[in-house]
Amino acid sequence: MLIFAHRGASKAAPENTLKAMHCALQMGAQGIEIDVIQAAGQCWVIHDVWVQRTTNGFGRLDQMTEAQIRQLDAGEGQQVPTLEEVMALTANRCLLNIELKGIKDLALFLQQLDGACESLGIAHQHLLFSSFDHHLLAQLSRLRPEFAIGALTASCPLDYAAFAQELGAVSVHTDVAFTSAEFVQDAKARGLKTYVYTVDEPQDMQMLKNWGVDGIFTNVPDKALHWLAESEQ
Ligand code: G3P
Ligand code: MG
Repeated sequence: MLIFAHRGASKAAPENTLKAMHCALQMGAQGIEIDVIQAAGQCWVIHDVWVQRTTNGFGRLDQMTEAQIRQLDAGEGQQVPTLEEVMALTANRCLLNIELKGIKDLALFLQQLDGACESLGIAHQHLLFSSFDHHLLAQLSRLRPEFAIGALTASCPLDYAAFAQELGAVSVHTDVAFTSAEFVQDAKARGLKTYVYTVDEPQDMQMLKNWGVDGIFTNVPDKALHWLAESEQ
């Protein structure tokens, strides 16, 4: 079972910060999930477009200048990092799941991503792109068929994982609250991996493992890795 640090190791350090990425790598997470939003011509690693939940500022990220964003404190003196800064830290050290939250200009995103991959020597095999916006994923899949795409859902669709297959995804990312053995079976039959969010309790980890889930997103990768090692003894 693959352990993804959700927003980095977000229990140990402020979510989506370089410190959270560093902690996740130290803990041995095989994957890291981050959320990205475009603003001021850059791609920022942050979950909400309104910055007040995770920073000391107030307002919409996409109405701020780069200087204003750089001044935000995301906790423990951490800045809101750019995607490139996170890629530089995690480069080829884990699977980086880039969740596209607020990408309005896909061409600009791809241009900057390509630039970062080239300068940092990152192979696209180390990246997994996901989004709740399936129109955006369809566009991405058309433009970059070689990219690994994860189809996110917060529900259990009537036709289970069919939507993810239609998108040409390699994985389907589901909410633990709506994941069932039937769903996992259906995804498997379609050749899709199932990654489930957000799973912090060993009882849930065990249930998902029994169903054959391929990976989990957790705020506590250290705890999950410990549980996994114990459960495999
Ligand atoms: O990518 C999995 C999970 O992060 C999706 O929900 O709201 O935590 O970004 P959210
Ligand atoms: Mg996310």
